[in-house]
Amino acid sequence: MKILVLHGPNLNLLGHREPEIYGEMSLEMINQKLEERAAVVGAKLEIVQSNHEGVLVDALHWAADRVQGVIINPAALTHYSIALRDAIASLPLPVVEVHLSNIYAREDFRRRSVLAPVVWGQITGFGPLGYLLALEALLTRKAW
Ligand code: DQA
Repeated sequence: MKILVLHGPNLNLLGHREPEIYGEMSLEMINQKLEERAAVVGAKLEIVQSNHEGVLVDALHWAADRVQGVIINPAALTHYSIALRDAIASLPLPVVEVHLSNIYAREDFRRRSVLAPVVWGQITGFGPLGYLLALEALLTRKAW
C-alpha cells in the first residue's frame, strides 16, 4: 500500500511557527512518526510539502493511479482553494483532511473548509496525532 502525504503552505515552519497553536513538533518529526508507523505494516509513503498551490494540485494528479489514499493538511488553502477541491474531487481515492488545530474553534475565516465536502473524512484539533489517526484510517479502512 502506498499513501501520499501532502503538507500545505507554511507547514515547513512547524515547531517555530505559533507553537502555542501548532505545537513544538517539527514537520520532519511528524513525517518520521508517520514513516515509522507505515514501516510496521509495510506501507510506503510519498511525502510532499509545498508553499505553492499548483505543486499540491500536481501532486494530487500524480497520485490518481499511483497510491491508495491521500492525507492532506491543506493549511490556509483549506479555506479558499477551489483548485485543490476540484483536484481532490477528481480522485478515485480516499482523502483524509488533517488540521493540527481545531479549525472550528478559531477565527471565523478558518471555520469553513471548501475541501470538507469532497474528502472521505476530516480530523481536526488533535495536533500531530491527527496525522497518525489519518494514516490508521487509511490503513484499516477495508476492515471496517
Ligand atoms: C491548519 C489550520 C489553517 O487554518 C492554517 O492556515 C494552517 C494550519 C492546521 O493544521 O491547524 O496553516 O491547517
